[in-house]
Amino acid sequence: MSLVLQNEVSLKPFNTFGVEVRARLFAEARNDDEVRQGIALSAERGLPLLVIGGGSNLLLTGDIEALVLRMASRGIRVLADDGERVRIEAEAGEVWDELVRWSLAQGLGGLENLSLIPGTVGAAPMQNIGAYGVELKDVFDSLVALDRQNGEVREFGLADCAFAYRDSLFKREPGRWVILRVRFNLSHNAALHLDYGPVRQRLAEEGVAEPTPADVARVICAIRREKLPDPAVLGNAGSFFKNPLVPAALAERLRSEHSDLVAYPQADGQVKLAAGWLIDKAGWKGFRLGAAGVHAQQALVLVNYGGATGSEIHALAERIRADIRQRFGVELEMEPNLY
Ligand code: EPU
Repeated sequence: MSLVLQNEVSLKPFNTFGVEVRARLFAEARNDDEVRQGIALSAERGLPLLVIGGGSNLLLTGDIEALVLRMASRGIRVLADDGERVRIEAEAGEVWDELVRWSLAQGLGGLENLSLIPGTVGAAPMQNIGAYGVELKDVFDSLVALDRQNGEVREFGLADCAFAYRDSLFKREPGRWVILRVRFNLSHNAALHLDYGPVRQRLAEEGVAEPTPADVARVICAIRREKLPDPAVLGNAGSFFKNPLVPAALAERLRSEHSDLVAYPQADGQVKLAAGWLIDKAGWKGFRLGAAGVHAQQALVLVNYGGATGSEIHALAERIRADIRQRFGVELEMEPNLY
């Protein structure tokens, strides 16, 4: 098989913000060999290479003078099953939520709290995706990645990945690693994580006394559908900002001024603040700047009402950041990658 190259391709279908920009060259890599072909071609043509997954964590601010390589490898397999613990492997191009649903259909627990997160398997470790009290690192076994600096394939265990809140080695070395496949530790009898937000309460309301992973997934899907706009209807990239980590003294000062501050103390003494609360408190919820806006139901999500450019969305984000810095002395960091 060889890579099919296309010229001047619209990336609108390939980014969940639905921003209209074009890629100078575009191709889909269905296997490791096609990834290598993409790397070689970008060097031959003197164009940078931009590897993308589901485009759900991307803000594209202009035409991309690069070869955009979309990971399209498929395949999910069981590597080991001792009747209790199950190690599985999925190719980078698999859709994340399809992997979650596959695991639930096998009766396996571990991924249920990460239901309905947009994006691909290969992109998931990049920012250590997380939701409802579970992060990818909690179910991670290992991954295989290609080093673009020397073409070598390397295996990474948990400790090698430097996972942190929405962060990893791969995110800190942008453009170096192409994640090819990821392995997870799942279980036939996984311990459930029900203590985040309204999960336990919603199960009780449904009358579920002994929840299964599939029950947890169902409830989390329902909560997410209520809180987060569907990118197929309203362009967005989920949370636009990370929840900021601040020194305890700053959190205390803010708490003295705002008794309803949403703050989560961390093991290292820092305090994580809810960026959505800060932005909401500052009055941005429902604000519109042209076709870009702050979601009316969730201040942490920026949306494209249709036809917004990436630069407009970025300009809105910068105005919000400046305002939050000035009002609260808190620096917000963008979650999506900007190109
Ligand atoms: N809040 C407001 N106003 C808002 C939004 C939030 O006051 O407009 C308050 C809420 O009332 C709540 C707190 O802020 O007390 C936190 O809000 P929420 O529970 O909705 O969670 P979040 O901090 O906004 C994080 C993740 C989500 C993840 C959920 C559930 C980040 C940046 N975001 O959101 O991840 O799904 O928790 O675990 O960590 C994503 O990364 O794209 C994402 C959606």
